[in-house]
Parts: sequence; structure tokens; C-alpha cells
Amino acid sequence: MAAVTLLATEGLSRHFGGVKAVDGVDFALDRGEIRAIIGPNGAGKTTLVGMICGRIDPSRGRVRFEDRDITGLSAWARVQRGIAYTFQITSVFGGLTCFDNVALAAQRRVHGHRALDREVARLLGRVGLADRAGVVAGVLPYGHQRLLEIALGLALKPKLLILDEPTQGLSDAEIDHFCALIRDVAAEATVLLIEHNMAVVMELAQRITVMDNGRILAEGAPEEIRANPQVQEAYLGS
Ligand SMILES: Nc1ncnc2c1ncn2[C@@H]1O[C@H](COP(=O)(O)OP(=O)(O)OP(=O)(O)O)[C@@H](O)[C@H]1O
Ligand SMILES: [Mg+2]
Repeated sequence: MAAVTLLATEGLSRHFGGVKAVDGVDFALDRGEIRAIIGPNGAGKTTLVGMICGRIDPSRGRVRFEDRDITGLSAWARVQRGIAYTFQITSVFGGLTCFDNVALAAQRRVHGHRALDREVARLLGRVGLADRAGVVAGVLPYGHQRLLEIALGLALKPKLLILDEPTQGLSDAEIDHFCALIRDVAAEATVLLIEHNMAVVMELAQRITVMDNGRILAEGAPEEIRANPQVQEAYLGS
């Protein structure tokens, strides 16, 4: 089956004073793929996905999702169209239980108490937090809070799930669980992952986009990216 473009940016830019955080980026994602964005600190990765999900206004350029121009839409309107994201900084409600966090996210889509209970249990089970339902989120270890965030994202049934450094702070065992989860999620959603852990990137991504200085430095399959001398110089440090 021919690839279908889900998301495309055209000349997308964001300047902060004199800093060109993102500088004329043309970026496209196919439906169903797992894509990783890598690049050094300050490369513009978070700013780029911030503009894709509507948290950051572009200085210039357009964002298209499912062939519609969504540049002017609010973050919430984009969530409703199927773009879900988890932040680099954790965004769960610390005073609520895991169950209530996920229920809040799922209740727009799932109606009726029984159905909602079932759906929340399913989502918590999916991210490996089934036995934590009654625990207040704020006391969970950091890694579990990150998994809870993914459950919040999945509760929206997204077409595109954007994760900004999801494995930061996770143990090796949690990272293995995360990779299995993302492969499973990819059966029903496109996944865009900003990730510094190269083992995770190489294991999960079908394609990798390398950013440096606000621009796309390279793009390709994992083995191409690993072999690219420019990428090695700018990022892989060898
Ligand atoms: N709100 C802001 N105000 C001013 N400068 C900003 C702002 N947000 C980002 N920047 C700058 O824009 C550039 C890109 O930042 P961004 O956070 O997008 O990088 P990143 O690739 O996500 O980095 P990291 O890997 O450290 O998360 C950096 O130089 C950063 O200092
Ligand atoms: Mg970032």
C-alpha cells in the first residue's frame, strides 16, 4: 500500500529574539510509522513538536494534518483532531489517583460509568500500571508517572502520538516495557518520538530525522543515519 502523508510542515520557523530555534523546516510523517527525532540539546526538537501540537505559535510557515491546514488551530482543537502529546516535563495531576487521571482524559470519548471504568482499567493495564489504579499519581516513582502520561495520551485515541523524551528517568526494565508498548501502539497510531537514548531510537524508529541548529540535518532509515558522517560529527560524537 502506498504511504499516505499524515502530517506535513512547510517552512515552519520559530524565532526567539535572535535565536532561530526552528528555521524553515519541511517535515513530513506517513500514517502508521514510528519516527524518531534526534539532535543535540537546543537543536529545536521540542520547539518543532510544540508547533505541531499547537503549544507554540510559529513565526512563519504552515502545519498540515490529514490534508488540512491546522496552523491557526488551538492545541485543544488539534487534540480533538487526533494529535496527542506528552511533554518533556511531566503533566499528570499529582493530587489525583492514577485511575482519576486516566478517567479525566478518557471521559470525553467514553460515556457511562461502567464503560469508563473498563476503559481506564484497560489503559492502565496497557502501560503496566494496572496495580497502581488507586495510588495518588504524585507519589509514583518518576518512571511510572511517565507511563501514566502515555496512558493519558492513549486515552484520547490519537491518530498521532507525540512523545518528548519519554524514556528519560526510566530504568532498563521500564525502557524494555516502553519499547514493547510503543510497538503495540503503532498498530493503531502514528508515533513521533523525541529521544536521546540511541538504543531506543535504533530499536523503535523506522525512520529518523536528525535536527541541528533549527534545521533538518539528515533523514533516513536507522542504518543510514548511523552511517552518515555529518550526523556522527554533529551528534553521535564519533
Ligand atoms: N521560550 C523560549 N524562549 C527563548 N528561547 C527559547 C525558548 N524555547 C526554546 N528556546 C531556544 O530555542 C532553541 C531550541 O530549543 P528546544 O527546546 O526546541 O531544543 P531541543 O532540541 O528540544 O533541546 P533538548 O534536547 O535540550 O530538549 C534553544 O536555543 C533554546 O534555548
Ligand atoms: Mg527538548
